[in-house]
Amino acid sequence: MTETGLPQISQGLDGIYIAESSICKVDGIAGRLYYRGYSIDQLAKNSTYEEVCYLILYGKLPTAIELAEFNKKLVDARPLPPMIIDVINEFANKQDPMDTLRSAVSSLSAYDTDMNDSSEAANLDRSINLISKLGSIVATIGRYMNGGKYIEPNPSMTHTENFLYMLNGKAPDKKDAELLDLMFVLHAEHSSNASTFSTLVAGSTLADLYSAVTSGIAALKGPLHGGADEAALKMMRAIGNPDNTEKYINDALAGKRKIMGFGHRVYKTYDPRATIIKEDLLALQENQSEDVKTLTKIALRAETMMIEKLGKSHGIWPNIDFFAGPIYVSIGIQMEMFTPIFAASRIVGWCSHMMEYWKNNRIFRPLEYYVGPSGLDYVPIKERK
Ligand code: ACO
Repeated sequence: MTETGLPQISQGLDGIYIAESSICKVDGIAGRLYYRGYSIDQLAKNSTYEEVCYLILYGKLPTAIELAEFNKKLVDARPLPPMIIDVINEFANKQDPMDTLRSAVSSLSAYDTDMNDSSEAANLDRSINLISKLGSIVATIGRYMNGGKYIEPNPSMTHTENFLYMLNGKAPDKKDAELLDLMFVLHAEHSSNASTFSTLVAGSTLADLYSAVTSGIAALKGPLHGGADEAALKMMRAIGNPDNTEKYINDALAGKRKIMGFGHRVYKTYDPRATIIKEDLLALQENQSEDVKTLTKIALRAETMMIEKLGKSHGIWPNIDFFAGPIYVSIGIQMEMFTPIFAASRIVGWCSHMMEYWKNNRIFRPLEYYVGPSGLDYVPIKERK
């Protein structure tokens, strides 16, 4: 309670700690990010998505043998059951791919041979299955959206090589797969963000892992969270010509519209993931299409302007979603797939947090301060005006 006798309300749970966690540290003031103690800069430079998944799930970097065993489990889990392909086939061209993803992931519980086993070992197996399957599901959704059919995964490829293979039906360019792998690493985990929190809320009722991550997917969809990468690219496309950038941003801010890909609840400085993506985007300019070059020019001008206007003064800086669009375009990935790809990367974070939270589970049940009327007398329907 505050001095006025009213409760302290933290809109959006701003500044509220919900649990202890040893998975991820986000230092929003210094602009640093660590998975299990390792800085994102080091992981981005040296690691792979498979290794980062192991690190996040098990809390340590794997030995070569451990990584090979883990990788085999991922590879074995890649093929999709026929019913999941049917779900994708049915919905892929009727709704947003995030909705199809949500339905497909939710349906995976039908293939779980013992839903009553809620042991940590069973949930670890489920997590590995989910990490692997989300890659296949998202790639297959993209394939059906473009009139293609399911392609059997290729066991000799890495997670992101296979993703591009299942999406496009041909062996991917090595550089594209490496760039996508980097994007997967950068999106793998980020503490108690909205989708992870949503996962935890659902799971805290002791609902199963599929229910929990389905809730996470639902929360990721919105443009204030995972959907911002698509929204940021849409904005760049709407700007069209780099010379229109300043006017577009000025008009948007004057109209009190948010610029997608900027701002963050925790980072009050440059998101370290955005720094890495920007560096990579600048490094790949040579041999790029005119489209990617134009998008990059627009992004850079928008960035300069936003930092000047809202950076230091309001703590609104580029976040992970801002430079992601042009990178995906350079890999040949269509805009609608950005957020599903985010989900396919973040699945490891959702599962790891869920398993950690279950070790000391308590159902989430916050309060609302009631400000509505009270003491009303019930009026029978016939007497209501
Ligand atoms: N452009 C312009 N103004 C902004 C932006 C932005 N991108 N972000 C915040 N602001 C302004 C708000 O209008 C508000 O101004 P006001 O106080 O004058 O009303 C102030 O900054 C605070 O903004 P909130 O939305 O209240 O900040 P909050 O911490 O609740 O939200 C959020 C953070 C949702 C990320 C917000 O910055 C935003 O909407 N950004 C755009 C969407 C986006 O890029 N989301 C991706 C985030 S990263 C991720 O989820 C993977």
